[in-house]
Amino acid sequence: MFPKLLLATGNAHKLEEFKSFLGDMAAEYVTLKDLSLPEPDETGTTYIENARLKAVAAMQASGLPALADDSGFAVEALEGAPGIYSARWAGSNKDFSVAMKRVHDEMGHEVNRGAAFICALVLALPDGKLIEVQERATGEITWPPRGEHGFGYDPMFIPQGYTQSFAEIPAEVKNKISHRALAFRALKEKL
Ligand code: IMP
Repeated sequence: MFPKLLLATGNAHKLEEFKSFLGDMAAEYVTLKDLSLPEPDETGTTYIENARLKAVAAMQASGLPALADDSGFAVEALEGAPGIYSARWAGSNKDFSVAMKRVHDEMGHEVNRGAAFICALVLALPDGKLIEVQERATGEITWPPRGEHGFGYDPMFIPQGYTQSFAEIPAEVKNKISHRALAFRALKEKL
């Protein structure tokens, strides 16, 4: 157990999720906002690179172990797009109906409906050691979007083994099978 762990995200929604997944991994959790630290730009070309640059910057600025993530939606027919650009496809208004419509339009009549949510987590320790994991939740694209829960691309994604979209499934269920749930489980195993 860490005495203090820095959660390197400015996203309030993710912070709550992080804490519920991490449980008692640390005695105390602090955020970038608590320490008035900025969130660096995501300039990497992979999920792991983006998570690593956020975790390392936070660890170096604070001297604390720091955990960062990067996630996205990868559509097989679009060769993994929107991928690390998932948030950016929603534009400055963060309008995910626009982003989902773009996925739908770019897929056209493509028969391969396969897609996955991907989550990379990097824990940067003060001694310079990095613990890195990446996991995916696979499924299929559905159109039109369905459901009111969740966020982002949830309404257009049906996880494997289910008939409801991520936005129709209760949050407790999504939080057991999601890419983030799998990545946190893998991180705990590595520790
Ligand atoms: P990040 O904050 O840079 O990791 O951006 C992740 C983006 O991927 C989010 O803005 C969403 O568009 C998308 N995304 C990641 N996880 C999920 C999820 O569980 N449901 C829906 N969209 C997600």
